[in-house]
Amino acid sequence: MTDAGNNLLKKKACSPKVRSSNPDSSLAIHIPVLLEEVIRFLAPVDGGTYIDGTLGLGGHAEKILQSCKPSGRVIGFEWDAIALHLAQKRLAPFGDRFYAQQRNYSEIMAGLTEIGICKVDGLLLDLGVSSLQFDSAERGFSFQNNGPLDMRMDKRAHRPAEEIINAYSKEDLADIFYYYGEERQARRIAAHIVEERSKERITSTTQLARIVAGAVPRKYQPRKIHAATKVFQALRIAVNNELDNLTAVLDTVAKILKPGGRVCIISFHSLEDRLVKWKFKDNPELHVLTKKPVIPSLEEIKVNPRARSAKLRAAYFKG
Ligand SMILES: C[S@@+](CC[C@H](N)C(=O)[O-])C[C@H]1O[C@@H](n2cnc3c(N)ncnc32)[C@H](O)[C@@H]1O
Repeated sequence: MTDAGNNLLKKKACSPKVRSSNPDSSLAIHIPVLLEEVIRFLAPVDGGTYIDGTLGLGGHAEKILQSCKPSGRVIGFEWDAIALHLAQKRLAPFGDRFYAQQRNYSEIMAGLTEIGICKVDGLLLDLGVSSLQFDSAERGFSFQNNGPLDMRMDKRAHRPAEEIINAYSKEDLADIFYYYGEERQARRIAAHIVEERSKERITSTTQLARIVAGAVPRKYQPRKIHAATKVFQALRIAVNNELDNLTAVLDTVAKILKPGGRVCIISFHSLEDRLVKWKFKDNPELHVLTKKPVIPSLEEIKVNPRARSAKLRAAYFKG
């Protein structure tokens, strides 16, 4: 790292005031998934520089910092202002070994350039939403809590789900549900939404969930998940451009890693996992470390049921 980068890390690092995994609110709890496995594949060492591109509440970053002491560093990217604030408080005790920016991980190169760093030893992405976001009704991610149809991770950057649901054509809605939710009843659901919104604007999560459930005859409804689960996943992906962001970062991985540097990606649905699998495979500069994705143990799922769909893939840059 350049001197300028070093100084910036020092200048922007938080002062070591708070040391807690739950610093501001009872909602601020997120159990990091596949924690030991991430450390095994990322293999942080003293003196290394690691990027956590989805900082969240800093659970993985904390473990990486503990594993690369005394002088290894973590640079965090997080586009949710609330999560970033909580992670900065949590990781403040690491002083200038930790630095974070509010930025989309698809712009990692620009973020690194800004602090004078060209190459790093590892990159972690733990995709999806944190429990903090999912459990906050006012963020609108879940139909289990009634809230506004929002779903924006970065409020500055995107339009809320309400706009998509009320303004997009029937065909566009069906495409979103089909391609991002793999929802077989996409056309039927889209048609019903368009009919219902002509009577009354759709503004809340439970209202949308009711409409979706009402669109699909019981015999075609999934047995193990709520009828609206896939539609909510699809909307979240569309609101936050999740697949475009993932594609962008996968295309830059080899440019930001040092030879031997590692990339670990945890995904939570098959669209993401397939993208990671093929981008790793198709990149001759990467050596894949996980022939099959690593999944959580039954013990981990028992403690943290949200880990159940997690899949970790890892690779290193051949250089
Ligand atoms: C599953 S959580 C990460 C949790 C974290 N590993 C921990 O241990 O606390 C995913 C986080 O990534 C953030 N995120 C998702 N997409 C992002 C993107 N394109 N750029 C930056 N942050 C993103 C979300 O706001 C969320 O806080």
